[in-house]
Amino acid sequence: MDNPWLKISCSDYESHMRDVGQTEVLNKLTKYCLDKYKPASFAILGCTTGNGLEHINPKITSRVYAIDINPEFIEKTREKFANKINGLKTYNLDIGKDELQFKNVDLFFIGLVLEYVEPHKSLKKIIHSLGRKGVLMIIIQENIQTTIVTKTKYKSLEKLEGISNEVNEIEINEFILSENMKLIHRRKIELTKNKSFIVLEYQIKEK
Ligand SMILES: C[S@@+](CC[C@H](N)C(=O)[O-])C[C@H]1O[C@@H](n2cnc3c(N)ncnc32)[C@H](O)[C@@H]1O
Repeated sequence: MDNPWLKISCSDYESHMRDVGQTEVLNKLTKYCLDKYKPASFAILGCTTGNGLEHINPKITSRVYAIDINPEFIEKTREKFANKINGLKTYNLDIGKDELQFKNVDLFFIGLVLEYVEPHKSLKKIIHSLGRKGVLMIIIQENIQTTIVTKTKYKSLEKLEGISNEVNEIEINEFILSENMKLIHRRKIELTKNKSFIVLEYQIKEK
């Protein structure tokens, strides 16, 4: 079976995320971590159509790795940002199957992607791509009596329910800590009374 993400158009995705109010929250979180860590190299898993990349300052961040399984999303990201971000490299790959082609990442951003992949397998590859003192910023959902994918009029997104799983924060935290990383910040952003984002920031431990 093809991954349902491959059947979602840019316009359905963008409209759905705007309607559920998540585009803006993810955008602000991208800006927050770029401002805080000022990375020379930045990677984003599940870049979709480049939400948040407008906050890249090419004078500070000279290498940007944008990854997504959906080739249309990657194409749109290139259209929007290839002229503005000199060091932009895009990768159309499946993090569950493919290896990452880059190393020494200062800041790796994963916003709402672990719900659709095997978390430990993907996190292992991601952590191994980090440089010394590399930072990992993860956003996962916490849902109370509601679905991971909020229902909107964009039906193509409903197929995602079949591959989405709530991420167990305790389990991924234990796994990440076992990979020589420390938790430096955690917070919860309440979107509605049933849905929150958990924002986790980790950093490689100094030897
Ligand atoms: C919910 S979106 C992430 C949020 C998005 N960055 C935003 O700001 O709206 C999940 C993204 O992960 C991508 N994705 C899902 N599974 C993937 C996989 N196995 N490998 C790479 N990308 C994947 C999807 O195509 C989608 O673009």
